[in-house]
Amino acid sequence: MAYKVIIIGATSGIGEELAKIYARQGCNVGISGRRQELLDSLQQQFPNNIITECFDVTGNENTKHVDNLIQKLGGLDLLIYNSGYAQLFSSLRWEIEKQTTLVNVNGFVEIINFGLNYFLQQKKGQIAVTSSIASIRGNSLTPAYNASKAYVSSYMEGLSIKMYKQKLPIYLTDIQPGFVDTDMAQGNGIFWVAPVEKAARQIYQAIKHKRRRVYITKRWWFIAQVLKVLPYSIYKYIG
Ligand SMILES: NC(=O)c1ccc[n+]([C@@H]2O[C@H](COP(=O)([O-])OP(=O)(O)OC[C@H]3O[C@@H](n4cnc5c(N)ncnc54)[C@H](OP(=O)(O)O)[C@@H]3O)[C@@H](O)[C@H]2O)c1
Repeated sequence: MAYKVIIIGATSGIGEELAKIYARQGCNVGISGRRQELLDSLQQQFPNNIITECFDVTGNENTKHVDNLIQKLGGLDLLIYNSGYAQLFSSLRWEIEKQTTLVNVNGFVEIINFGLNYFLQQKKGQIAVTSSIASIRGNSLTPAYNASKAYVSSYMEGLSIKMYKQKLPIYLTDIQPGFVDTDMAQGNGIFWVAPVEKAARQIYQAIKHKRRRVYITKRWWFIAQVLKVLPYSIYKYIG
């Protein structure tokens, strides 16, 4: 039976590329996003493998939509939460902070709760989430974005320990990309920008090997280690 995958936020960038990889592997893939025309275009490229559900994760019906995807797929093996929102601003703007929190935190925690409870019932499954290297420290231009990704990575660690204690084969992967060449990679000081195909390939491998946490691309591991130990007295000049 074909492996069943749901990718929340697969209309562009990393999510779209991951959907293509899983579809090419012969998996049955349920994809979502707000842009219906992009969902349709991907579905038409893989008519036998991809099904779609168009919705905004800031709405009130997230679990209904995810359940629709599960019903259409006839089950679920892997749930990927990839939707994300970020805007760079030197001023502090509530509408941006609010949207960032609704997409990156509220949508994430609601859908992952639903997915994990589904996997607990079937006693197996896998969850992966696109967090960010931004989860490690605060940032003056994107305070809500960095804080939202810290929430995501910490939450995933909590759930991993929960599953470890229950001794169930339910695996959680925290994906922490550096910069990837998508619409979201903004700003002047960006470096080591990975092609989206390369980033998606490494993410696919990490999920396949049930990695607990992974930096994308691999060399971002070094940046992560530096960020973790850099004292605030120095970090404040770059953060
Ligand atoms: N690119 C980078 O450098 C980078 C680095 C670290 C982490 N990340 C993370 O990687 C993930 C994917 O981002 P990307 O770089 O591939 O950028 P992207 O091309 O802009 O993709 C963002 C995805 O999130 C979806 N999304 C945004 N708001 C949504 C909403 N309200 N409801 C439902 N879906 C929504 C978008 O779909 P619709 O617009 O169709 O709704 C789209 O599919 C994000 O979580 C991001 O934080 C990216």
